[in-house]
Amino acid sequence: MYKINENFQKLPGSYLFSTIGKKVAAYQQANPDKEIIRLGIGDVTQPLAPAIIEALHKAVDEMGNAATFRGYAPDLGYEFLRSAIANTDYKARGCDISADEIFVSDGAKSDSANIQELFAADSRIAVTDPVYPVYVDSNVMAGRTGEYDPKTEMWSNVIYMPSTAENGFVPELPKEVPDMIYLCLPNNPTGTTLTKDELQVWVDYANKNGSVIIFDAAYEAYISEADVPHSIYECEGAKTCAIELRSFSKNAGFTGVRLGFTVVPKELKCGDVSLNAMWARRHGTKFNGAPYIVQRAGEAVYSEAGKAQLKDQVAYYMNNAKVIKDGLAEAGYTVYGGVNAPYIWLKTPENMNSWEFFDFLLENANVVGTPGSGFGPSGEGYFRLTAFGNYENTVKALERIKAL
Ligand code: MLT
Repeated sequence: MYKINENFQKLPGSYLFSTIGKKVAAYQQANPDKEIIRLGIGDVTQPLAPAIIEALHKAVDEMGNAATFRGYAPDLGYEFLRSAIANTDYKARGCDISADEIFVSDGAKSDSANIQELFAADSRIAVTDPVYPVYVDSNVMAGRTGEYDPKTEMWSNVIYMPSTAENGFVPELPKEVPDMIYLCLPNNPTGTTLTKDELQVWVDYANKNGSVIIFDAAYEAYISEADVPHSIYECEGAKTCAIELRSFSKNAGFTGVRLGFTVVPKELKCGDVSLNAMWARRHGTKFNGAPYIVQRAGEAVYSEAGKAQLKDQVAYYMNNAKVIKDGLAEAGYTVYGGVNAPYIWLKTPENMNSWEFFDFLLENANVVGTPGSGFGPSGEGYFRLTAFGNYENTVKALERIKAL
């Protein structure tokens, strides 16, 4: 009889957002007349910007013409997109990242789950707590996390770095040295972030101790404060210790279109082995490129028209963030985030635990959010609301919450 990867059996429950989806569907089925407002998963609601739609139409027409038709995309992505990324996201911010350090993919979720393949099976990972569940779950599947303790909701071989209100959501450097450190900034789920000086401390720590940082910058477009870095490569020395993940989902509304990229600097080496070469080998073997049409849409994100339209889109969502944050504060909640990120992190009222508050909100306000404990034990007693809804629904949701 064949054997399965037993590590999958260790995973408790289903993926956080699948669990929420099932609970909401069951509630809706039992209460078909209720109008549910979904501020749970960070899924966008605004249509693609006109510059992107135009690029998609043009690329579709090219695919229908023998002279301009394209088959397999280059493994690492089309040059037109990688150059636009290198120039706009990096060189313009003073980061010396070139097109051949950029690997285009179908999104940051898959890259953040797959990147761990580059590292030894016995590598020790460190994660902030709370944390985007994909980092931990993908390492569970790879057999790196030890055993799960349902009481503490922790894995025996994972280093947890609590980010709590008590430490201002700035986690302490780990006492035991990890091999891989996952950082998501601006942070999902807390909506908080680090200044450049604070991030520099992590870069220096990684270089000094021989750790690699997996830096998830999916929410960088939402940064509004000047001292918050958009890329880890704004910090000195980051090219020798950090991989950066980026997404088009949140800054350009590509959650259903699918596009992202990963930066693996050529200076990032383990001994004399280049991680850039390893990721190129992995990408070439396991991935056949993001669709041409989608990469053209990605290129339009960097056009002058695209940039202006997306700035407005980000401002639209950040206005929702303000509506949520101000509304909750008015209703007496303790709230965090929402300034450099589209997430608002709130303390649950009356000592309800995160799932109790989820049920309370769903049943009494018909509003869906995300229980903080789903992101890790330090998220217990917290709750996340997303600013990615439409304005009218966001206002309505807050009116309902204020009336509770
Ligand atoms: C979230 O809600 O945390 C994100 O939308 C999930 C994701 O980007 O995969």
